[in-house]
Amino acid sequence: MSQVIFCNDKKNVYMGPSLLNSEQIVLTKPIALIGMMGVGKTHIGRLLAKELGISFVDSDDEIVLSAGQAVCDIFEFYGEPAFRDLEGKVIERLLENKASVISTGGGCITQPETLEKLKLSSHLIWLTSDIDVLVERTARRDDRPLLKGRDPHEALSSLFAARKPLYAQAAFSVDSGAGARDVVQKIIDYLAE
Ligand code: S3P
Repeated sequence: MSQVIFCNDKKNVYMGPSLLNSEQIVLTKPIALIGMMGVGKTHIGRLLAKELGISFVDSDDEIVLSAGQAVCDIFEFYGEPAFRDLEGKVIERLLENKASVISTGGGCITQPETLEKLKLSSHLIWLTSDIDVLVERTARRDDRPLLKGRDPHEALSSLFAARKPLYAQAAFSVDSGAGARDVVQKIIDYLAE
């Protein structure tokens, strides 16, 4: 397990001799994972949090808890804009816990305020993948409202085309096809820089 140090300002951290090796990471804010649905944010986020010994939270799970309704139902009864508002508020609250890894819903970055908060208050990491991989992984569940009744390849491709410039504003990106352990290691190496 890597040793994690929390502080408000990386420049002011004193690392004595016992802390000076590549396994030590100074976290000034939480780690947030963004990327398309099916890219593996939850799986990789859990592994990363475990490896760092910090907590893991999934923003969709928190939305369901606070609304008392499934994501699909929120979309159906209140519409996507209401879901995005709630998602923004939940993510803002989750960003307060700097000792955490946050897996976000794939479309949260479409709200400019949410993207700005994530850029400012997290180590923002974009997980990427080929559309074919997303098609295969999203086929395992049928609870994603934006894919309902649509050709998954076409739907994911057009969502990705619109979102790519937003995801690209992350501080670091990594291809999730490399295998979860490798992806986690790449993220840790980036955080340790
Ligand atoms: C969405 C992704 C979903 C969920 C909702 C909308 C999106 O989360 O928030 O269905 O707009 O891409 P995952 O990315 O965890 O599947």
